[in-house]
Formats: sequence, C-alpha cells, structure tokens
Amino acid sequence: MKRAFIAVAVGVAVLGLGTLVAGAAPTYVGAAKCKMCHHVEYESWAKTKHAEATDVAKNAKDRKFEPACLDCHATDKSEALPGVQCEACHGAGSEYKTLSVMKDLAKAKAAGLVMPTQETCNRCHDGKEHHKHQAFNPNIHAHKAK
Ligand code: HEC
Ligand code: HEC
Ligand code: HEC
Ligand code: HEC
Repeated sequence: MKRAFIAVAVGVAVLGLGTLVAGAAPTYVGAAKCKMCHHVEYESWAKTKHAEATDVAKNAKDRKFEPACLDCHATDKSEALPGVQCEACHGAGSEYKTLSVMKDLAKAKAAGLVMPTQETCNRCHDGKEHHKHQAFNPNIHAHKAK
C-alpha cells in the first residue's frame, strides 16, 4: 500500500516537472495573435506566397503530398498553423508576444524573437531540388518596399 503511494507520488512529481520544463520552451501562438498589434505586417504577409504555402504543397500536381512537405510548407511542421507564418521567420512567440516584452527589443530577443537573416531563409530555401535559394530580403513585408 505504502509502496504504491510512493510510486504514485513520484509519478506525479515527474509529470509536474515535465510540464514545467515544457512550459519554459516558447510555443507557437499563430499569426492572428501577431495581427492584433501588427496589422500592417499581417495584411502585407497575407498577400505573399508564404501565406499559401500549405495549400500549394497539398495541391501540387507533379509531386505527391506527404507530411514531410510541411517541414518547409507550414509554420510548425504540421497543419495546425498552415502557411509560412510570422513565427516561421520570427521564432515561436509565446514568451515575447506581450506588450511589455515586445516594446523592448533586447527583452524580446531574449524571449525568442528572431530578426531574420539569410540563414533563416536557407532553412527552407536550401538550394536543393525545387527549394530554390532566395537572397535575404529585408523588405519581405511588401509595405516596407514602398
Ligand atoms: C501586444 C501587442 C503585440 C503583439 C501581440 C505582438 N507584437 Fe511584435 N511588437 C509590438 C511592439 C509595441 C513592438 C515595438 C516596435 C514597434 O512599435 O513596432 C513590436 C516589435 C516587433 C518586431 C520588430 C522588432 C524591431 O525592433 O524591429 C517584430 C519582428 C515583431 N514585433 C514580431 C511579432 C510577432 C511575430 C508577433 C506574434 C508572435 C508579435 N510581434 C506580437 C507589439 C506586439
Ligand atoms: C526543404 C524545404 C522544402 C520541402 C521539404 C518541400 N518544399 Fe516545396 N518549396 C520549398 C520552397 C523554398 C519553395 C519556393 C521556391 C521558390 O523560392 O520559388 C517551394 C515551392 C513549392 C511549390 C511551388 C513551386 C513549384 O516548384 O512548383 C510546390 C508545388 C511545392 N513546393 C510542393 C512541395 C511538395 C508536394 C513537397 C513534399 C513532397 C514539398 N514541396 C517539400 C521548400 C520545400
Ligand atoms: C519569410 C520570413 C518572414 C515572415 C513569414 C514574416 N516576417 Fe516579419 N520580417 C522579416 C524580415 C526579413 C524582416 C526585416 C528584418 C530586418 O530589417 O533586419 C521583418 C521585419 C518585421 C518587423 C519589423 C518592422 C517591419 O514592419 O518591417 C515586424 C514588426 C514584423 N516583421 C512582423 C511580422 C509579422 C506580424 C508577421 C506575420 C503576419 C511576419 N513578420 C512574417 C521576415 C518575415
Ligand atoms: C519555413 C520555410 C520557409 C522560410 C523560413 C522562408 N521561406 Fe520563402 N518560401 C517557402 C515556401 C514553401 C515557398 C513557396 C510558397 C508557395 O509557392 O506558395 C516560399 C516562397 C518564397 C518566395 C516567392 C517565390 C515566388 O515564386 O514568387 C520568396 C521571394 C521567398 N520565399 C523568400 C524568402 C526569404 C527572403 C526568406 C527569409 C527572410 C524566406 N523566404 C523564408 C518557405 C520558406
């Protein structure tokens, strides 16, 4: 009886720790959350091919769709967040999305915000097969090019 109780207690403690550790890693919140404050960026992103990337892979005529396509054709390697959303380039946002963190660039970066570089693009645009290389473009949000 006593041993069973200890086993359960240890099990609960281990589970609790697991939740804590998982809670510390940033998670994806989705573009709708970013849109609340970054309306302009959202609207310009929504017109890019990145926003359609999941549908494009699923409807490909010359290749068969498989889950591995989502490594590059979605935000989080699953269909939960379709398209190459904000966080595919800027990092998972759960820890930096609050106003007090966001308005302080250093704090936001410490909480996982990525200001993209060529390397960010290379993860998907690796120059292999159809994954054409794309030069880093700081004006990737259309409104900045105007
Ligand atoms: C509560 C409002 C709010 C939310 C939600 C929010 N942001 Fe921000 N973000 C800001 C503010 C304020 C700044 C400071 C600079 C500015 O005024 O645009 C900022 C700055 C940024 C910057 C630019 C940093 C710089 O100095 O150039 C990026 C990139 C960014 N946010 C991305 C995101 C992404 C991606 C999300 C969603 C995961 C997000 N933000 C969610 C308010 C927000
Ligand atoms: C390593 C990352 C990566 C993987 C994995 C990947 N893609 Fe792509 N895909 C890209 C990139 C990057 C582009 C855009 C290339 C460009 O810049 O024009 C693209 C473009 C496309 C396009 C539109 C342009 C074209 O070539 O027809 C289709 C359709 C497509 N991918 C289908 C798929 C399918 C289906 C799969 C899985 C079988 C897949 N992709 C796997 C990175 C990837
Ligand atoms: C394909 C990658 C990519 C995606 C997707 C993306 N961004 Fe960006 N973002 C960039 C790059 C590159 C910059 C410019 C970085 C620099 O100037 O050093 C940038 C800059 C920004 C800035 C700084 C000020 C500005 O307006 O340029 C904000 C805010 C921002 N992004 C928010 C977002 C939000 C919100 C989304 C989704 C709706 C998003 N981004 C999607 C690559 C991306
Ligand atoms: C998570 C993977 C991923 C990242 C990161 C990424 N892209 Fe893409 N990109 C794609 C995919 C997939 C497509 C094709 C989408 C489609 O055809 O609908 C694409 C399409 C494009 C296109 C359009 C090509 C055309 O045919 O018009 C450009 C330009 C581009 N990306 C530039 C960039 C740049 C610059 C960066 C880095 C700042 C970047 N991408 C980061 C996956 C990515």
